[in-house]
Amino acid sequence: MADTAQLIIDGKTYEIPVITGSEGENALDISSLRAQTGYVTLDIGYKNTGATKSAITFLDGEKGILRYRGYPIEQLAEQSEFLEVAYLLIFGKLPSKEEYDEFKTAVTMHTLVHEDTRVIFDGFPTNSHPMGVLSSLVSSLTAFYPKSIDPGRTPDQINRTIVRLLAKIPTIAAWAYKGEMGHPLNYPRNDLDYCSNFLYMMFSLPTTKYEIDPVLVDAMNKLLILHADHEQNCSTSTVRIVGSSHTSLYTAIAAGINALWGPLHGGANQAVIEMLEAIREDGGDIQKYVKKAQDKNDPFRLMGFGHRVYKNFDPRAKIIKKAADDVLSKLGVDDPCLDIAKELEEIALKDPYFVDRNLYPNVDFYSGIIYRAMGIPTEMFTVMFALGRLPGWIAQWKEMRENQEPIGRPRQIYTGETERDYVPISKR
Ligand code: CMC
Repeated sequence: MADTAQLIIDGKTYEIPVITGSEGENALDISSLRAQTGYVTLDIGYKNTGATKSAITFLDGEKGILRYRGYPIEQLAEQSEFLEVAYLLIFGKLPSKEEYDEFKTAVTMHTLVHEDTRVIFDGFPTNSHPMGVLSSLVSSLTAFYPKSIDPGRTPDQINRTIVRLLAKIPTIAAWAYKGEMGHPLNYPRNDLDYCSNFLYMMFSLPTTKYEIDPVLVDAMNKLLILHADHEQNCSTSTVRIVGSSHTSLYTAIAAGINALWGPLHGGANQAVIEMLEAIREDGGDIQKYVKKAQDKNDPFRLMGFGHRVYKNFDPRAKIIKKAADDVLSKLGVDDPCLDIAKELEEIALKDPYFVDRNLYPNVDFYSGIIYRAMGIPTEMFTVMFALGRLPGWIAQWKEMRENQEPIGRPRQIYTGETERDYVPISKR
């Protein structure tokens, strides 16, 4: 492979450096293109733009490959624990037993949130969407830990912020749910593992003894691992670009949570269930919705179908589909939405519209079904995604700062009015 490519503009040839990644991906390095030629590149939605060099996650959308730090997602989902994967993503290697014990203890010891957080919390109306509550409370952590705002933070302070985020976000997330339900808040229990503690805070009520079901713990562990990182997606790019202004890690993560909320990104798991319910309430006519999704004059899309980078299959969807079957049969759940989901999947996978456009079910098509079977309410689905994606956001922020990347500042092609004179209001 040549180490430069040639670009000819108006008969003049420019040498553009070629960059090759460790998996053989090639890129043209256009960072000095404007200085050399006066041109910028235009790529709306960054469909073809590498925004960074990253050593965290590799994915091949054509082959359906996803690896964290080189480890296949299939092996991690089957054999590891979520906090172990968090350590791997953030620190770049699998922890030794001692390192893992120390990390888990640190996360466990920081699960409490400042008692004054309850005052902020009480200010939200009871029906607030938990994603809004989550992002607001994560931003508010800067007020409780003011040193985190200092752009000259030491590695020790950064590590403490990382541990606090991993420890406190489950508490805040469970409280956001309890607030929405109008239930009393549960404090974290340090005798429980990460997922068990979260399920306890979510579901335990003073009126009944809550038994933690290992099937739910296992399903949650898998789901968090599958969502832990996905290279430069919308929310992760948001975290990197917000963090590139040297704002605190808390605010960069809050920005990522807000970006994730949208129905085209993490909000899709909620949108999938809402769509399945709407189909059921409308008499279960799946063909009607498949047709609607194909109609260019109808804004309806099949939620949970299609992906910006996976154009063959989503490897996470393959794992999660099996997990959904296991969880539902172990819990003995009979969900009419699941029957609609299966039928919809079957019809869409054979339909030329979906086949021609490589539109397959993505991870969120199935994750909502598992969350629903676990008793997690629809509005909490995207919060669950945020819990999973947290280590990925942290790892990407850390990498961006350690590599001393410059502030993110894209260019544009201006298409508005050219210069014109102001007209006073009396003459308009
Ligand atoms: N239903 C119907 N048509 C679709 C769908 C869909 N779900 N997704 C894409 N298309 C069509 C689209 O209309 C376009 O058709 P045409 O070429 O005739 O104009 C073609 O497929 C390409 O779509 P696109 O919008 O250019 O593709 P994109 O890469 O910009 O969008 C996407 C990717 C995920 C936003 C989109 O597929 C979508 O809106 N899916 C539904 C929402 C969803 O499930 N999102 C979760 C993604 S996975 C979780 C995560 O990582 O965030």
